[in-house]
Amino acid sequence: MIIENQAMVTDAVVDAVSRTEDPRLREILLALVRHLHGFVREVRLTEREFQEAARIVAAIGQKTTASHNEAVLMAGSLGVSSLVCLLNNGNSGQTETQANLLGPFWRDDQPPSASGDTLVRSPTPGPGLAVRVAIEDANGRPVAGAEVDVWHSSPEGLYENQDPTQAEMNLRGRFVSDQAGRFHFRSVKPAGYPIPIDGPVGELVKATRRHNFRPAHLHFMIYKPGFKTLISQIYSPDDEHIDSDVQFGVTRALIGDYVRHDEPAPEPDFGTPWYSLDQRFVLVSGDARRPVAPIRAKAAAEAS
Ligand SMILES: [Fe+2]
Repeated sequence: MIIENQAMVTDAVVDAVSRTEDPRLREILLALVRHLHGFVREVRLTEREFQEAARIVAAIGQKTTASHNEAVLMAGSLGVSSLVCLLNNGNSGQTETQANLLGPFWRDDQPPSASGDTLVRSPTPGPGLAVRVAIEDANGRPVAGAEVDVWHSSPEGLYENQDPTQAEMNLRGRFVSDQAGRFHFRSVKPAGYPIPIDGPVGELVKATRRHNFRPAHLHFMIYKPGFKTLISQIYSPDDEHIDSDVQFGVTRALIGDYVRHDEPAPEPDFGTPWYSLDQRFVLVSGDARRPVAPIRAKAAAEAS
């Protein structure tokens, strides 16, 4: 069609994408066009602002490397990641869920670990943390043989892939639950951390006068055929940013019972104070599928 006015642009695009063969893709594209055009009309986007928007989208891609994913960070900073997670879990958003954001730091080659192992693979100062995990199905029966990835930041707030001073795969492991659905491990207590603000996400955070911290947490991914892969995070309630996460990830179901201990620890490599966490996860039946890893290398490896 020959476009005669601004309203007709939307009609023309809707007409064009209506020919999409795949029904789900057609549904998504039609809604995308409707909302995108509605957004432009609502804010009466200027030409200069449109050029700026194109620059930001391009910068998100340019900022993304093998060890950093600006797109995931932006989705989190706008609450989209949380919304997608909550709409797709907990009985389609009706009930509480242990599902949470994947985040930008999972690696799909987490090192195999035995129950009782430590995640500390190079000197990492900080309070010791002893974690015991139990995995059940929806009927409370233990789930044996589940592969559980664990990863977290250091007490300085850096993941190993961001920090050349940490050993490859420091504070990462992949465990398998035993016949009782359990395993345990040792590590150091993670700290909250600032998300990087040297790119478009930083521009957003600064413009909206927000801090750029995530509260301290452990990441878990639980994989077993027959169950929906559970991606979770367990947050530490003593973190000052527990109720103002820059990635909008903290839900009540995910605040962990981290217990501080001032008595000597049973583990010889722990000083005082040290912490413990008993964590139970419930799997629901569904598709077992690991996601595409948002990163695949350490920053140092990428530079060489
Ligand atoms: Fe994280």
